[in-house]
Amino acid sequence: MIYLRGNLGAGKTTLVRALLLALGYRGRVKSPTYTLVESYEVRGLHLRHFDLYRFRDADEWEEAGFRDEFDAKNICLVEWPEQATGLLPDADLSLTFEILQDGREIFLHAYTEAGMKCLNAL
Ligand SMILES: Nc1ncnc2c1ncn2[C@@H]1O[C@H](COP(=O)(O)OP(=O)(O)OP(=O)(O)O)[C@@H](O)[C@H]1O
Ligand SMILES: [Mg+2]
Repeated sequence: MIYLRGNLGAGKTTLVRALLLALGYRGRVKSPTYTLVESYEVRGLHLRHFDLYRFRDADEWEEAGFRDEFDAKNICLVEWPEQATGLLPDADLSLTFEILQDGREIFLHAYTEAGMKCLNAL
C-alpha cells in the first residue's frame, strides 16, 4: 500500500506513469480522476492506481467493491488517501511530493517491514 501525497499537479500521476514504464508497461496510463481506479498487469504484478480526489461517500466504497482491491495480491498506489481515512488500509510506504521552483522534491517514509524493504532496495 503506497500513499501518494501532495498538491494538485505535484507529480503523483507522473510518478505512477514512470513506474509503469520502468516495469515495461507500454499501454496508455490514464489519470483515474473520474474512474477513481485504473488497473494494470505487468510482469505478473497487479497494480491498482487510485485517485480519490473526487471520492466523497463511504457507501461508494462498498458499491465499487474497493474493499476487495486491498488484498495482499495487489500493489495499490493511492493519490489523495486522506479522502478515504478510516476506509483505506494503512500505508506501507508514503511518498510526499513538493513543488520547488525548479522541479520536485519527494519525501519517502516507510511504516512497515514491507515498506522498509522497498526503501532499502532503492
Ligand atoms: N518531476 C516533475 N518535474 C516537472 N514537472 C512535472 C514533474 N512531475 C510532474 N510534472 C508535471 O506536472 C503536471 C501535473 O502532474 P501530475 O498530473 O502528475 O500531478 P498529480 O500530482 O497527479 O496531480 P492531481 O492531484 O491533480 O492528480 C504535468 O504536466 C507533469 O508533466
Ligand atoms: Mg494525479
